[in-house]
Amino acid sequence: MPPNATGTSPLLAGRVIAVTGASKGIGWALVQALAAAGATVIGGARNVTGLEVRGATFLPLDVTDEASVNAFAGAAIQTGVDSLVNNAGVGSFVPVQDITPQEYHRVMDTNVLGTLLVTRALIGHFQARYVGGQTSSLVNITSDVSARTFANGALYTASKYAQRAITQALAHEGHSYGLRVTEIRPGKVDTYFGGSVQGEPHKAAWLRPEDVAQAALYALGAPSHARIDEILLHPTTQDVAF
Ligand SMILES: NC(=O)c1ccc[n+]([C@@H]2O[C@H](COP(=O)([O-])OP(=O)(O)OC[C@H]3O[C@@H](n4cnc5c(N)ncnc54)[C@H](OP(=O)(O)O)[C@@H]3O)[C@@H](O)[C@H]2O)c1
Repeated sequence: MPPNATGTSPLLAGRVIAVTGASKGIGWALVQALAAAGATVIGGARNVTGLEVRGATFLPLDVTDEASVNAFAGAAIQTGVDSLVNNAGVGSFVPVQDITPQEYHRVMDTNVLGTLLVTRALIGHFQARYVGGQTSSLVNITSDVSARTFANGALYTASKYAQRAITQALAHEGHSYGLRVTEIRPGKVDTYFGGSVQGEPHKAAWLRPEDVAQAALYALGAPSHARIDEILLHPTTQDVAF
């Protein structure tokens, strides 16, 4: 639905939406877009020092740490959260022979366990909302490589395949308690991903974080009777990869 004259969106204004990985890249763009649409945003990341967006509250969050997740989720529930975007993620691109247990845990604990912990911490709340007659939404930012892989991509794509499986299983479970689940699968996005810097010249033709944020807004802002199962988006110049 288009924004109204104030710039807010009728289906997002007044909503309360939690976003993980909110400090940079896609998450940061999403916080700004949601707040501009009139939503209240609770953004979490490990480093939230100095972050300010009108309409958003930033809380420290390490998605790999259960106590940190539960504190974040508790604050979100107290604010009346109705939607969650699992966006926090890290990359790793080395040959199989170079994957150490430490690197395995860094990637899998962030991308897979993190998604599980944050989701799990809010499911009871979403179920209670349904008993009260309200639906909820959950968006997982996975990747276009949640269903294909490539050399040096074993660990990262394993984590994204796993996120896709979790997303789809949760969709099967969640429809019975009014939870709309969406997987967003971006191709290359110009962010700080993998230790890169946003705005580097070789990334000029890539998606912008704002493009992915708009996809999430579309899913979150769909009318409550409609569920967007999956969005796959690529830069125009990236080879098509379904
Ligand atoms: N960039 C791409 O080309 C691309 C393509 C497809 C999918 N994706 C996915 O998009 C998501 C966002 O990535 P991005 O490109 O925006 O990368 P980014 O610019 O590096 O941002 C990653 C965000 O995740 C947060 N984060 C990392 N580890 C965390 C942890 N343990 N707990 C809480 N927050 C954590 C970071 O904040 P702190 O460091 O402060 O914690 C940061 O806010 C990821 O899931 C990624 O896999 C990216």
